[in-house]
Amino acid sequence: MESNGAAPDNVAIHFMKRAGRYNGSSAWVEDPALIAKIREAASAGPEDTVLDIAVGTGKISRAFLGRVGRVVGLDICPDMVCQARGCVDEIVLSPAERLPFKDGEFDACVCRQGLQFMEVDRVVAEVHRVLKPGGRAVFCHLTAYGPEDREETFLIQKLRNPARKNFFLPQDIPESLNRNAFTNIEVMEYITRESVNRWIDHGVLAEEDKEKIREAYLKASDVFKRIHDVQWKDGDIFDSMRMTLVRAVR
Ligand SMILES: C[S@@+](CC[C@H](N)C(=O)[O-])C[C@H]1O[C@@H](n2cnc3c(N)ncnc32)[C@H](O)[C@@H]1O
Repeated sequence: MESNGAAPDNVAIHFMKRAGRYNGSSAWVEDPALIAKIREAASAGPEDTVLDIAVGTGKISRAFLGRVGRVVGLDICPDMVCQARGCVDEIVLSPAERLPFKDGEFDACVCRQGLQFMEVDRVVAEVHRVLKPGGRAVFCHLTAYGPEDREETFLIQKLRNPARKNFFLPQDIPESLNRNAFTNIEVMEYITRESVNRWIDHGVLAEEDKEKIREAYLKASDVFKRIHDVQWKDGDIFDSMRMTLVRAVR
C-alpha cells in the first residue's frame, strides 16, 4: 500500500463537490453484477444486521435493504448520504476510524471504494470489533493489477482524485485483514471497463487536470496498455480497471 498524505478534511470537501455527479462518474457505481457479488459475499440472512461503511449514495446498501433485518450506512459526507435515504434503515455520520457502535453489533460489514480515503488498519480493526464472531467483512476496491502497472496506475489514480490517501495492490487489504485477526480470507478479481472521459468528469477536476490524465494514458508504457487493454475510440479512452473484492470472517 502506498500513502499520499492528503489531509482528512480534503476528503469530505472533495465528496461535497462531487456528490451531485457521483452516480454517473464510473460504470462500476451502478454495475448490478458487481453489486450482486458484494451482496453474495456478505452472506447476510433475513435477520442479519449489515453495516455499509462509506455508504455514499447508497448503491451497495440498496442491494441489502428488505433482504436483511437492518441496514446501517455510515459516512462523513452529508451531501453524499442525503442521496442514500430510501436505501438504508439508518444513516450514521461518523469517520470509519472510530465506529460509534458496540462490540459485536453486526453480522456483516461491507465497504466499497472507501478505504483509499481512510487509515486502513484502524478501520479494519474497528470492523473486527463491531462484527459478531463469525461475522463477514467484504471490501471491494480499485487496485493495480500488480508490480508491472503499479506506478502508472497509482499516478493516474492520484491525478483523478487528489483527496485519495492510499493506493492499493491486490494483496494490501487481505494483508490488513490478516494483521487484524480475520480468518478465511478470500480474494476475487473483478474487471470494470471504464470510459476515461466519464471517469474524469466527476465535477472536481479542471480541464488542465483532465488533460494531464489523458496525457498519462498517451505516454503510458506498452505493458500498462496491454494489462489495462487501453483503447482509443471516438475521442474517448477505455481502460479495463481491476477491482479486488476481499471477503473475510471474524
Ligand atoms: C467513492 S465513494 C464510495 C461510495 C459507495 N461505497 C459506493 O461504492 O458507491 C467514497 C465515500 O467514502 C466516504 N468517506 C471517505 N472517508 C471516510 C471516512 N474516514 N469515514 C467514513 N466515510 C468516509 C466519502 O464521504 C464517500 O461518500
